Amino acid sequence: MPELQIVRTVADLRAVVAQYRRSGAGIGLVPTMGALHDGHLTLVRSAKLDNARVIATIFVNPKQFGPTEDLARYPRDEAADAAMLKELGTDLLFAPDLEEMYPEGFATSVSVGALTQSLEGLSRPGFFTGVATVVTKLLLQALPDRAYFGEKDFQQLQVVRRMVRDLNLPVGIVAVPTIREADGLAMSSRNRYLSPAQRKMAGALPQIMHETVAELRNGQIASPIIAKAKGRLHQAGFDRVDYLELCDETSLQPIPVARAPSRLLVAAYVGGTRLIDNWPVV
Ligand code: PAF
Repeated sequence: MPELQIVRTVADLRAVVAQYRRSGAGIGLVPTMGALHDGHLTLVRSAKLDNARVIATIFVNPKQFGPTEDLARYPRDEAADAAMLKELGTDLLFAPDLEEMYPEGFATSVSVGALTQSLEGLSRPGFFTGVATVVTKLLLQALPDRAYFGEKDFQQLQVVRRMVRDLNLPVGIVAVPTIREADGLAMSSRNRYLSPAQRKMAGALPQIMHETVAELRNGQIASPIIAKAKGRLHQAGFDRVDYLELCDETSLQPIPVARAPSRLLVAAYVGGTRLIDNWPVV
């Protein structure tokens, strides 16, 4: 098994990328916040298929956490993450510290317009500016040919695509389908906050989503179907539903009746843990 090289500075990252470029290798980038699970590993596997060299990044980005969110307790285990990345044959891990990413005096942010005003953007003000800022930095630091993002964070994926187009960033964005547990729950680093009882209950989310998508596909008005689904989520034990909306897949604006391409997107709490998911409708 080849060694996984780990670098912590932009200068060292650029030196390694320059070597890869000299050898003519295509480069794939997998940005993460660590606490890796099979969803992340699928991003790495996809990147391995398309590129001779794969770089993963681990950086828990404070700019995408709100003041009441879980930054301090966000799971961190770099050694375990590095072992998984090595096992998959990842070439390089870029794991900068806070000072390297946001040195004293850092004052620039990247904000993406309309796409960030709905759904997650309403529930988590500042989240997408934090994501867009760090992803722009990572793309400019590593200058990959392709970067890989999971469909699980569907709005994030659309925001990154928009930003890359708007800023003419020379990178292809590759979307990778959501990886699910046996009961359909989308894999997420935050699933590890769930107690065994909460984890069992969380399985109701994909089931209700799946059945709601089937109803929406019949072309009926969405609002009563969605109201019923919210009621079912509460009955199943979900504490709060931040949103459950049928949206146009490109604009992420709510639509009254399913039409191609549309998606059902949800954010709901089990205890203090916020779960998000989305399914294509038509
Ligand atoms: O999806 C994530 O893990 C993060 O939002 C990302 C893209 C790594 C930016 O910090």
